[in-house]
Amino acid sequence: MANESLKQCPDHPSLSQELAPPRNISAGRFSRREFVQKGISVAAWGGLLFSAGAGVKLGVQFFYPSVVFHPPSVFEIGRIHDFITGDAPDAHGVILVDDRFKKDLRFFVVREKNRIYALYARCPHLGCTVNWFSGIRTYKCPCHGSEFHSNGVNFAGPSPRPLDRLHIQINAAGNIVVDTDRIYAYAEFEEKKIYIETIA
Ligand code: FES
Repeated sequence: MANESLKQCPDHPSLSQELAPPRNISAGRFSRREFVQKGISVAAWGGLLFSAGAGVKLGVQFFYPSVVFHPPSVFEIGRIHDFITGDAPDAHGVILVDDRFKKDLRFFVVREKNRIYALYARCPHLGCTVNWFSGIRTYKCPCHGSEFHSNGVNFAGPSPRPLDRLHIQINAAGNIVVDTDRIYAYAEFEEKKIYIETIA
């Protein structure tokens, strides 16, 4: 069988030149097997890199744990004698409503004859901040019109209950401390004594 890779030169028949090997029309493309092998290789490297990345992340979290900072909720607001006036109690037994803390801390300090408590200024209806109107001895909600007596008990509008109360106590230094994270419903107020008893 003649060597097909040898070709006669018409001018020099004695000479022959070697033909270039037939061109592989699939050159430059992957065969199916190669494609599968490369796919497996890429997947293996991907998995390896993913595992390494996850390991690094865990290592960073171990040495630098994420910390969630909460704003402080406990505030010293003064001493008992800071909440005394010579006024007579109103129809609900309230002598003083101090609204100095409403803007920044969202509560009122209420003084009755024998106790002090902190009213949460958040309307129980949908959460708007209520305002104190000393002339009519009433808290009003600007959103849907709920109204509350000076002791926080609701009497008009859609609020389903009285204003809530915040935990209050006197610390070792003799200062009144209010915790805005400890919220009590009106029903718990008397039962759990969420107030500071004072001497008249
Ligand atoms: S949020 Fe106060 S009345 Fe609706």
